[in-house]
Amino acid sequence: MTDQPANDAPGTTRLNARVVGICVAAALGGFLFGFDTAVINGAVDALSAQFELGSALTGFAVSSALIGCALGAWFAGPLANRFGRVPVMLVAAVFFFVSSVGSGLAFGVADLIAWRVLGGLGVGAASVIAPAYIAEVSPAHVRGRLGSLQQLAIVSGIFVALLSDALFANLAGGAAQEFWFGLEAWRWMFLAEVVPAVAYGLFAMRLPESPRFLVARGDLDKAAQVLHDFTGVDRVNLKIVEIQNSLEHERRASFKDLKGPLMGLRPIVWVGILLSVFQQFVGINVIFYYSTTLWRSVGFGESDALTITVITSVTNILVTIVAILLVDKVGRRPMLLVGSIGMAVSLGMMALCFSFATLVDGEARLAEPWSTIALISANAFVVFFGATWGPLVWVLLGEMFPNKVRAAALAVAAAVQWAANFAVSTTFPGLAEIGLTFAYGLYAVMALLSFLFVWKFVPETKGRELEDMTDEAFKRAVREG
Ligand code: GLC
Repeated sequence: MTDQPANDAPGTTRLNARVVGICVAAALGGFLFGFDTAVINGAVDALSAQFELGSALTGFAVSSALIGCALGAWFAGPLANRFGRVPVMLVAAVFFFVSSVGSGLAFGVADLIAWRVLGGLGVGAASVIAPAYIAEVSPAHVRGRLGSLQQLAIVSGIFVALLSDALFANLAGGAAQEFWFGLEAWRWMFLAEVVPAVAYGLFAMRLPESPRFLVARGDLDKAAQVLHDFTGVDRVNLKIVEIQNSLEHERRASFKDLKGPLMGLRPIVWVGILLSVFQQFVGINVIFYYSTTLWRSVGFGESDALTITVITSVTNILVTIVAILLVDKVGRRPMLLVGSIGMAVSLGMMALCFSFATLVDGEARLAEPWSTIALISANAFVVFFGATWGPLVWVLLGEMFPNKVRAAALAVAAAVQWAANFAVSTTFPGLAEIGLTFAYGLYAVMALLSFLFVWKFVPETKGRELEDMTDEAFKRAVREG
């Protein structure tokens, strides 16, 4: 094993181009996550017309992928513990590839749903593997930044999917029109995902396995090599001993290890689950999945609505960069707290605006000045979410759990997040029928509750080594925080 002279504190790591490179490659899984969940937007009307789907089946065609996501997230953790992080990424890449070809060439709604669920399995797996892997290879002092690359990749994936949908629809003269090789434009929207899927697979093949996984498996020489060559650890032997200590005597964790005194689970697992639930219960994906309806209600036509959706997703990318710059300086807790307040206020404003709506052809419509205020508030909500809760929940889920249970705990928290996403996006049309004031008001209340939750229960993890995240340290942090 190599032992380098120490410049920093023993066992700490320095940032180098290689570790940034491997984090970017791992984060590509996030790009596919964003692309895959957003690509259906541009295709949905055309495919529901072509396959003559009613509204229930259309809704299911859209949301079925989320069921796959929850399952993929659930199984990815145990598989990553058994076979390693990299093999799971490769399997996810294959799922993305097969799902995009299958969806693009679907014969009918049944096989389309099956292909979408398969892609969802890939998304769910990627949503667990990327944060775990990035946290495990990153130096502690920049772990937040590197972890936020995942969200940057997700929001870039959403943006590129919307853009490519718009491009195919425009080139073909409508999503339902035939385009290259006699295939309709909506099919090409799905087929386009082949490109990032292949890129992800090729990059993943070149990634080194996570040193923490290698130590857990007893492959110390390889772990030493990865720590030395890629993650720039100064004292490799010391770091390995630290990792071994934090793994204690356990070699492989499973869901059993998540058991604890608080309603059957360890308190820290509950914190992870609730972070996920709140991230979804503030309703962010309602803005992304039902954007056209929202923008129509503030008075925009169909094509303007698409432009605004693209603008919103660019805003989301820009604010993620702000988060990347701030996260390791300001810390996770203050950013989440500010985010919760900002989201509560902007959602509250949206609820207020829609109390002045009138119904036109069964749809809510706003007049000035409420339409402008609603437009600004919706974008402010995206800004507050995108700069705080969007990236930070993924960063925290990657880093907050003790080494021993990281993959399994993250899998549970991420699976719950997909289930929460499914719950919010399927209930929104029903809530909107009761009234948009009610729907946004509910999300605003969730944002307020998320503030109290962070205030009381979320520990600060900025700059701490992963080996320090034990249950005892967590309890201490919550007591002191
Ligand atoms: C986060 C959420 C995801 C959402 C995205 C939007 O990654 O987990 O559900 O679509 O942010 O920015």
